[in-house]
Amino acid sequence: MDNIKSYVLQHKDRFINELIELLKIPSVSADTAYCQDVIDTADAVKVSLEKAGCDHVEICETAGYPIVYGEKIIDPSLPTVLVYGHYDVQPPDPIELWTSPPFEPVIKKTEIHPEGAIFARGACDDKGQMYMHVKAFEYMIQSNTLPCNVKFMIEGEEEVGSVNLKTFVENNVEKLKNDVILISDTGMISNQQPSITTGLRGLSYVEVEVTGPNRDLHSGLYGGAVANPINILAKMIASLHDENNHITIPGFYDNVEELSLEERAEMAKAPFNLENYKKALDLNDIYGEKGYVTNERNSIRPTLDVNGIWGGYTGEGAKTVIASKAFAKISMRLVPNQEWEHITKLFTKHFTSLAPAGVTVKVKPHHGGQGYVTPIDSIGYKAANMAYTETFGVPAIPVRSGGSIPIVALFEKELKSKTILMGFGLDSDAIHSPNEHFGIFNYLKGIETIPLFYKYFVELSK
Ligand code: BES
Ligand code: MN
Ligand code: MN
Repeated sequence: MDNIKSYVLQHKDRFINELIELLKIPSVSADTAYCQDVIDTADAVKVSLEKAGCDHVEICETAGYPIVYGEKIIDPSLPTVLVYGHYDVQPPDPIELWTSPPFEPVIKKTEIHPEGAIFARGACDDKGQMYMHVKAFEYMIQSNTLPCNVKFMIEGEEEVGSVNLKTFVENNVEKLKNDVILISDTGMISNQQPSITTGLRGLSYVEVEVTGPNRDLHSGLYGGAVANPINILAKMIASLHDENNHITIPGFYDNVEELSLEERAEMAKAPFNLENYKKALDLNDIYGEKGYVTNERNSIRPTLDVNGIWGGYTGEGAKTVIASKAFAKISMRLVPNQEWEHITKLFTKHFTSLAPAGVTVKVKPHHGGQGYVTPIDSIGYKAANMAYTETFGVPAIPVRSGGSIPIVALFEKELKSKTILMGFGLDSDAIHSPNEHFGIFNYLKGIETIPLFYKYFVELSK
């Protein structure tokens, strides 16, 4: 396998240009204005899998955006790796904060990426990371070193909750049968210190609506005499955390997995520099739940955050008005053993009970999913660690991430196999933010590391 390095070196420019072409298509799944672009991206992914060497590729229609499925079965008695990724991306807004247009990819050098990074929406999450697998597969085909069977399942609705993927998986258990699921849609500690994601948080996402008077009112004529939905909503939201930043919803923590002091001490060994963390975000201090450090607050602890809040007049100048309605979008990140639909119910019950007389409250559940933790003694984890050790020169550290890929827990339930999260992004890559980028180093290192995972997984499976 020594020549994966030279293959990458030789085809580097083409690999970058192909990714750039894919990034030019604005596959924003959340916004129907981009509908045709999302569909075009699925077609482009299909073509790339065919060119790379899949025997069979199809576009699987769903009630939403299609799933691209591809496979190369070399011998049914050999293990099968199922690669999952997503070709949809987050909306680019606020667009004015991008230093170059989000769908006109450019390579720029940064402090962390001195060899350059591709700036575009989806560069890291997840087109760049997904495409590493296509190119790693191309190499294994070209060099005749593919050691097992491969299946690809690339979806177009991850950023909007993978609602239709659930049905697809449930209806295609036999087709998707595999020995391990491989995903690159997470990050690692740094370009010097690889890590393997061993946990993902669950999610419950809701939208709330507080209604006061039946129309917007003059804030002088009515102010003080009727409930102002925006004031009330702010108060209700503020009461969802106590002075220790604990969440106040009754029953919220009931099933939360408590880690032992040993496990927490193990977690604390992962390199982390608080001063750099604050500096990277221009913060004068950190903030969070009492009794836990930053790396615990954003991984093993559940949270509640307002993602957006609106109502009333937000245009230029001042308008004296009491709005009829106020709204907020709220997400709760959950940890293992918290059941997301149960948490949604607890939230709804509590939030509704907070409403004073004078307003009415509606809670609309959006999507959600279960968290995930994976052991580090599985063949898959070991193979991934061996692969990283070989390409980075140091072993990977297991890290529980704060992000969510809800479909991972469903894969385990339906397909009965473990997922290995081999991420190559960095926190500073600004996924979901303006100026998202993916390091050229990371992209090429990913392509170099993935074939080694296949090699060691098959060896360890014997
Ligand atoms: N790739 C991310 C999740 C992620 C990123 C996990 C980095 C760990 C490290 C994924 O595309 C994502 O954004 N997921 C959403 C959830 C989804 C239901 C919209 C999230 O975490 O907000
Ligand atoms: Mn992603
Ligand atoms: Mn994402």
